[in-house]
Amino acid sequence: MKGIILAGGTGSRLYPLTLVTSKQLLPVYDKPMIYYPLSVLMLSNIKDILIISTPDDILKYENLLGSGEELGISITYEIQPSPEGLAQAFMIGEKFIGDDACAMILGDNIFYGGGFSEVLQRAIDNAENGYATILGYYVENPERFGIMEFDQDWNVISVEEKPKIPKSNYCITGLYFYPSGVAKEAEKVEPSLRGELEITTLNDRYLKKGKLKAEILGRGFAWLDTGTMDSLMDASLFVQMVEKRQGVMISALEEISYRKGWISKEKLLENAGKYGNSPYGEHLKKVAEGILKY
Ligand code: G1P
Repeated sequence: MKGIILAGGTGSRLYPLTLVTSKQLLPVYDKPMIYYPLSVLMLSNIKDILIISTPDDILKYENLLGSGEELGISITYEIQPSPEGLAQAFMIGEKFIGDDACAMILGDNIFYGGGFSEVLQRAIDNAENGYATILGYYVENPERFGIMEFDQDWNVISVEEKPKIPKSNYCITGLYFYPSGVAKEAEKVEPSLRGELEITTLNDRYLKKGKLKAEILGRGFAWLDTGTMDSLMDASLFVQMVEKRQGVMISALEEISYRKGWISKEKLLENAGKYGNSPYGEHLKKVAEGILKY
């Protein structure tokens, strides 16, 4: 199973912030935004990851995350010369994906909540068995998102990108799991009226073949996208609140690696040292010392 993080785009809704750096490197409370989607792939036990970004920004990601060795994973990088739609990621990543199943997560999506690992495992099992999986989340403003419609048994019966008259309030979040062959399938996607290779068109292809499943992220689960000033601020406040309240750290990458047995205690401490006396570094030290059990 491979994983792609798409961290492209101009981030123009966040100007002038995104004139300084790439949107997915902006802070969400105490860490760069990309830590959150990267943690989701790691929690899915995906250790082979491709980050796609713009020609201007790709080096910043490489400087931050390197080869992934420090995290006990492999990270490679590709550029998206111009943003032509989310489905383009699979063409860019065709060689990287090879014959494997592949997950993709958008670099500005944050997922947090109990039971998530089980949801991820089901999506991976689906992908290994020839099915694509999308994740649904109830929203009040469905016109802004890809939207899925269900029958009475929660089977997906339609998917639409930013519909004017939405058929449901269930947004298709920016985390997708596909079986082997997704690059070939993405090549068949025709540009939409706005000229983009839409991920929703790709999902519709799987739906029409009877190969699309959905998981619903229910009550108590937090899905946050960070594409606007307000949602970016909300995400920071949410992370701050949970971390302070529970004494945990959301999406501490080295902690995930350590708990999964991908890096040793020595490596964890070495990594912690690199973060100096920041709360993130201090947290990693506590994990290494066994003070935090969860
Ligand atoms: C993209 C997708 C949309 C999805 C959303 C989730 O939209 O096109 O289907 O619901 O991400 O974050 P964007 O926010 O890039 O306009």
